[in-house]
Amino acid sequence: MADKSGFETRAIHAGYEPDPTTGAVIPPIFATSTYKQDGVGGLRGGYEYSRSANPTRTALEGALAAVEDGERGFAFASGLAAEDTLVRGLCAPGEHVVLPDDAYGGTFRLFDKVEQVWGLAHTPVPVSDIDAVRAAIRPGETRLVWVETPTNPLLNVADIEALAAVAHDAGALLVVDNTFATPYLQQPLTLGADVAVHSTTKYVGGHSDVVGGALVVRDHELAERIGFHQNAMGAVAGPFDCFLTHRGLKTLGVRMDRHCDNAERVVEFLAGHDAVTDVIYPGLPEHPGHAVASRQMRRYGGMVSFRVAGGEAEALAVCDRTRVFILGESLGGVESLIEHPGRMTHASVAGTDLEVPADLVRLSVGIETADDLLADLDHALGG
Ligand SMILES: Cc1ncc(COP(=O)(O)O)c(C=O)c1O
Repeated sequence: MADKSGFETRAIHAGYEPDPTTGAVIPPIFATSTYKQDGVGGLRGGYEYSRSANPTRTALEGALAAVEDGERGFAFASGLAAEDTLVRGLCAPGEHVVLPDDAYGGTFRLFDKVEQVWGLAHTPVPVSDIDAVRAAIRPGETRLVWVETPTNPLLNVADIEALAAVAHDAGALLVVDNTFATPYLQQPLTLGADVAVHSTTKYVGGHSDVVGGALVVRDHELAERIGFHQNAMGAVAGPFDCFLTHRGLKTLGVRMDRHCDNAERVVEFLAGHDAVTDVIYPGLPEHPGHAVASRQMRRYGGMVSFRVAGGEAEALAVCDRTRVFILGESLGGVESLIEHPGRMTHASVAGTDLEVPADLVRLSVGIETADDLLADLDHALGG
């Protein structure tokens, strides 16, 4: 929290000093499971066993804490591993969690099919509606209010500051999945949230070459609990994955600016296209979350969703026709991706209250030449 340097400086330098032995500017990949002790219990720098701590992971975790302005960061094998550690680290069977009604499908599945069996109840609500969140809280039982903002794939916006007050009034904690916005565009902890969650697989890693997750917490007590459960549950990120994720984090700021530039061009293009019935992007003044997004985000991100005239069949055809936009799940890499949420990322919520429209297409706008992206979409939309 003490580091007042700019975002990019923290992303590049926090968490690591050039190696005292060799001067290595980049954290080495410590491919070791264990560490020599100088006599029983004589640990060098606290390193004992790599599930508990590994220097490549320590460097990444320090940088993650710095860019989120948090007390401590923790790196996990995936975003869902981070979420499970958080939930079972902070909640007990018999308690309750409020969830977004358009949460990432895998997050909903985790709560619905795994945490519920363990004894944790959940209520999905529209997190852009503060009264609905307040009404869903069960006093004395609700432990977490869980928010994604913007949400995946409908890009709804939740007011972090207001929801932190609602959660805290009820004795609950506010958790913000900051995967879509990234710490460059939005810092939930500085707005009052208690925990920021990431699938670092996405923008933080940024190159579609590593799966990972992270938690950053705002205070010492939460740090102690998560640190204990990270080691006790063991879903840690390995040193090779930490190396790649940390390398990605260093360029997050410049990449996000280009993602936003390109997304703005794509939104403008889609909004003027006859084959598109609706464009969903928090940067549009008519987006219902625009005012809140403008308050809490630096810019509006690289994710764009749109609905296609011609329904599901045409939405699927658009996904098949692009050439630069690659048909695939995931998001946040340098390359543009297109997907059909109903049949792909959100297939696990089909038939539930969280089902997404069948004519919806989601874009993860990459950092290629913008004109090439527009030409590709024009072709795919039959222009
Ligand atoms: C917003 C969001 N949160 C969490 C996750 C889960 O992360 P992972 O796939 O790294 O387990 C995803 C994955 O797509 C996501 O989009």
